[in-house]
Amino acid sequence: MIRKFLDLGIQPLANQYLNKPKNLSVKKGQLYNLNVCFNSKTKLVSISKKIPVKKMFNNTYPYKSSMSKTMLASFENLSNEIKKKFKPKLFLEIGSNDGALIKNFNIKNTVCVEPCTNLAKITKKKGYFTYAKYWDYNLSNEIKKKFNSVDVIYAANTLTHIANLREVFKSVCNILSNNGVLIIEDPSLLECIKKTSYDQFYNEHIYVFSALAVKNIINEFGLVLFDIQKISTHGGSLRYFIKRKKNNQIKISNKVSTQIDKEIKYGLDKFSTFVKFGEKTINSKNRLISLLNRLKKQNKIIVGYGATAKATTVLNYCGIDEKIIDFFIDTTPDKINKYMPGKKIPIKKYNKKIYKNVDYFLLGAWNFKKEIFKKEKKFIKKGGKFITHVPKPKIIIS
Ligand code: TYD
Repeated sequence: MIRKFLDLGIQPLANQYLNKPKNLSVKKGQLYNLNVCFNSKTKLVSISKKIPVKKMFNNTYPYKSSMSKTMLASFENLSNEIKKKFKPKLFLEIGSNDGALIKNFNIKNTVCVEPCTNLAKITKKKGYFTYAKYWDYNLSNEIKKKFNSVDVIYAANTLTHIANLREVFKSVCNILSNNGVLIIEDPSLLECIKKTSYDQFYNEHIYVFSALAVKNIINEFGLVLFDIQKISTHGGSLRYFIKRKKNNQIKISNKVSTQIDKEIKYGLDKFSTFVKFGEKTINSKNRLISLLNRLKKQNKIIVGYGATAKATTVLNYCGIDEKIIDFFIDTTPDKINKYMPGKKIPIKKYNKKIYKNVDYFLLGAWNFKKEIFKKEKKFIKKGGKFITHVPKPKIIIS
């Protein structure tokens, strides 16, 4: 049974940064009601409204993985580990974005899959064999014809974007070699619930996975979860290592049962846990609004740091507008001089001059707090402060 536990209100598409703010409409599919649900059979948590992929991932997708040093470092470490442990003859990445990970792999034995043509162009230009296509069964057949099978398939922050999970795994099974490994990494549901980071939910994050749910779903496809790594990216993620079950020499790491036990202990198998999370989310919203209102009454200047998709959920759920946040700053070229989705808050190019008058930065990219604080030592030294809503709305300087 699928039951709703959270209503995050009417939301715009999270990465829809407009050149000019305009009134969006539900009828035209520019706005939708963001509800989050729990499936008591599979333990999968998902949003209820599925937006057509072509509306989300097309030739203007602005997000670039290479914009963050944290992500680049994480990808470099993983690439070294994959090469050492699995020695793939052929490596394929689903959702290769601007090539932040595959740049660590040899052009000759790497295949990219990226449906956003603006991004696919980047890896093609660098010489990587790139399919500018959505990950589906037809594409897996095409890949099978050309390459026969793939030894390591990797997808980071991508499978959560694809509504038809069953087709995802069916397509993986179609081309994964007998001893092949599927590696997926996505924000961890346990971390999301613990931190009340309700902003992990938006139209592109159709699912936020737990190890429990991943294990249940892949089981249907004769796949087994044989290892798990906890990683710090995106506010706390899990990296899942998956193989075909028929390969009976698989050693299952203790980390798998440890993680699943933790999730069950926290109640990720029970609807009541998510109802509580819903209550905490309302509380978080009220506290953030009153904190921001209090600072505005003192005539403080508040600017958003990191025009993230997550910030879109927060702004639109909490009703935070241009009267509270003067503007956002971001380093991503395709977001600059545009407006936060659903709001009249402009996005400006990151530069140090911007700091002059800012009293508080609202952390849109709270998941990069470490990297940002390192960069903004001077701002903090001069008395500048940050506001975060994770795990609770508060002012922070470290
Ligand atoms: P991310 O947290 O991955 O966002 P999303 O919620 O959209 O998945 O994106 C980080 C955003 O923050 C990205 O637009 C780049 C921006 N950013 C900066 O502008 N400066 C920085 O120092 C960092 C780390 C990120």
